[in-house]
Amino acid sequence: MRRKIIAGNWKMNKTVGEALALVKDLAPLVAGKDAADVLVCPPFTALHAVKQALGGTNIGLGAQGAFWKGSGAYTSQISIPMLADVGVQYVILGHSETRGRFGVPEPDMTPDLLKTFGETDSGVNIKAQAVLAANLNPIICVGETLDERQQGHIDDIVTMQVTRALENIAPELIASHVVFAYEPVWAIGTGETCAPDEADRVCGVVRQAVAQAAGQEAADAVRIQYGGSMKPDNAADLLARPNIDGGLIGGASLKAADFAAIVAASG
Ligand code: PGA
Repeated sequence: MRRKIIAGNWKMNKTVGEALALVKDLAPLVAGKDAADVLVCPPFTALHAVKQALGGTNIGLGAQGAFWKGSGAYTSQISIPMLADVGVQYVILGHSETRGRFGVPEPDMTPDLLKTFGETDSGVNIKAQAVLAANLNPIICVGETLDERQQGHIDDIVTMQVTRALENIAPELIASHVVFAYEPVWAIGTGETCAPDEADRVCGVVRQAVAQAAGQEAADAVRIQYGGSMKPDNAADLLARPNIDGGLIGGASLKAADFAAIVAASG
């Protein structure tokens, strides 16, 4: 039986003060809800303060990304040892927004600007290896765009993203530390959710790809979240599906009551 994992991806939201206020509201609402691992992923600037505030709670800490080198002349980047140093346990990798695959690009997101969001499949792989080497847990996001869905490429895209993310990673490490998040790009931040049957089916495709890359044992152990407009009113239905082991929650994680309701729906 895989333990559920509910993660709040705060994205580029919350100053330190706002982050602390959210944690203060959230902690009592999820206290004692031990059926799932619960974590929040604040922006880098709030990680340290949030870690202090999480002491004595059942809420873990994740970061929204990292550079794969340990240190050096890499202006603006944050290393995995730096994240470990402030108490981070999970690192989100390959989110469609860091891959530059936005579901609804804003008018100022020209192709030229989008090139600055550069995570690729091989980048995700090298970062996953570095996260694992530091004994942290990568949350690897995969998912198709609307175009790819309409052209019938869902399973191919997701399988390729999973396979490439796992290159050169030992099956035992995958089983013990890796989390996947299936996030159809068109459902992120749009209010549109993937129908639970379909979300479960594609999470099954992710599991199948893990089996091919790392064997059935790893595939049975790996936890696969659904992400994309998960909310209090659709969470229970999604989380009850056999291949959906949790949620990666954006918008609804910014309100303590909504996030807590999703945690409650996990069991
Ligand atoms: P959303 O974001 O819940 O706002 O759709 C999910 C995510 O991008 O991780």
